[in-house]
Amino acid sequence: MTNELVLIFDFGSQFAQLIARRVREQNVFCQIVRHDISAARVKELNPKGIILSGGPASVYEPGAPHCDPKIFELGVPVLAICYGMQLACYFMGGKVGQTAHTREYGRATLTVSERNTIFQGYPTESTVWMSHGDQVQVASSDFEALASTDTCPLAAVKHKTRPLFGLQFHPEVAHTPHGGQILANFLRDVCGCSGSWKMTAFIDNTVRDIRAKVGNKRVICGLSGGVDSSVCAALLVKAIGPQVACIYVDNGLMREGETELVKHTFRDWFKADLHAVDARERFLTALKGVSDPQEKRKIIGKTFIDVFKHEAKSIPDAHFLAQGTLYPDVIESGGSADGPAATIKLHHNVGGLPAELGFELVEPLRDLFKDEVRRLGVELGLPEEVVWRHPFPGPGLAVRVLGDITEAKLATLRKADTIFLEELHKSGWYRKTSQAFAVLLPVQSVGVMGDGRTYENAVCLRCVQTDDFMTADWSRLPEDLLARVATAIINKVKGVNRVVYDISSKPPATIEWE
Ligand code: XMP
Repeated sequence: MTNELVLIFDFGSQFAQLIARRVREQNVFCQIVRHDISAARVKELNPKGIILSGGPASVYEPGAPHCDPKIFELGVPVLAICYGMQLACYFMGGKVGQTAHTREYGRATLTVSERNTIFQGYPTESTVWMSHGDQVQVASSDFEALASTDTCPLAAVKHKTRPLFGLQFHPEVAHTPHGGQILANFLRDVCGCSGSWKMTAFIDNTVRDIRAKVGNKRVICGLSGGVDSSVCAALLVKAIGPQVACIYVDNGLMREGETELVKHTFRDWFKADLHAVDARERFLTALKGVSDPQEKRKIIGKTFIDVFKHEAKSIPDAHFLAQGTLYPDVIESGGSADGPAATIKLHHNVGGLPAELGFELVEPLRDLFKDEVRRLGVELGLPEEVVWRHPFPGPGLAVRVLGDITEAKLATLRKADTIFLEELHKSGWYRKTSQAFAVLLPVQSVGVMGDGRTYENAVCLRCVQTDDFMTADWSRLPEDLLARVATAIINKVKGVNRVVYDISSKPPATIEWE
């Protein structure tokens, strides 16, 4: 795909993916690999540079993750961060350890003594983020210090004869405000990367790869209306036009206008072969009277597969199935050839259709992070509304109408949800939050309207900020915005007389209510 590859060795750092995203921001392609990948394999991959991540271990600990020490002899530039630096220095005769004052968590002031190479253009004094127990206490005479903090004399080092740099702090996190400069210097000046990995080049290469793989066979693409599947479909349409058949299942649990947007975007705009299946009745009949959340999910999942399978059968010579799998899913499922082992992380959005469908998979987004998928979407001409769409769960509004589902409840929720989302868009808050929606609570409460007493439904507004959806904080929306939304919902949505705002974080609460 590119002749400029940077490898990121994962020593179990919570920041490995963040390092990768920072490198990509410099338009350099990179991949996360296991820490124990052999030097021979690295040589084969022929990277322009290597970055060693941090990690929670201590280098002397039994079972501590080590890399193949021969990687330092390949002549490939290495930037070793935190644990990575301790490991590199330890391999080369240094002493790593902990003294009473070496533990450092949080912000520290870095003083740079040598403003060349990786510190070119860097302030002499600046804030950096530290998070370590151990540190390099004594480096071998092969190293020289480049920077220090009060408690860490060797906060940055350079090998005197090899292209090897070590940083005790984390340049990848936002709390190190100039960290991007170090990465840019390393990639450009030390590794000699040109930073030419652009979305347009990605599109050209991927289009070529898809055509080569698919030949003249047909591809089925499941379209949910979400960002990933929409970008995946748009890319396929660009690559193979009418050979791709997009299947969109309207399960009756979508939000206001969602089905129309999918139809308009793909049928009218992309001129795609869109199979929009109206399965609303089937889903709602199957869900009738069911109020247990897991039971609802099971029914929806099974019905979806049945409907999808049936529609797929109507597409002759379908051989491939396209999925919008992203790089974080590939890493976390252990699905990348040189990548780290699977991490145990349960996420609802991973999965997809069962292998028994018998298709060969096409996953054109499997090297991309979410922000890159959005950039790709823009480049492919998808509307903003699709590109910046918040995630929406597979079971849709079924897990936002608490308890049993009826058409009437869905209609009420849709109206409230639309008012909330419209106000977020108008105020510019939609893009500042990660996910926002309304929930129809299974409670009724007393109110007054005009001269009369009412006893009607309550709607809850949920809005969160999150990086990975594993933890989340509730969004501090402005009071006047919340007031406007509440007033509009109570005035315009029949059957609702009370609106509440959810101020719980995840954990312990989840983002969805069911
Ligand atoms: P929770 O509620 O677990 O949600 O904090 C985390 C993220 O996952 C989405 N979500 C789902 N997505 N099927 C999906 O495809 C589901 O059953 C499901 N449940 C939750 C949720 O919207 C949030 O983005």
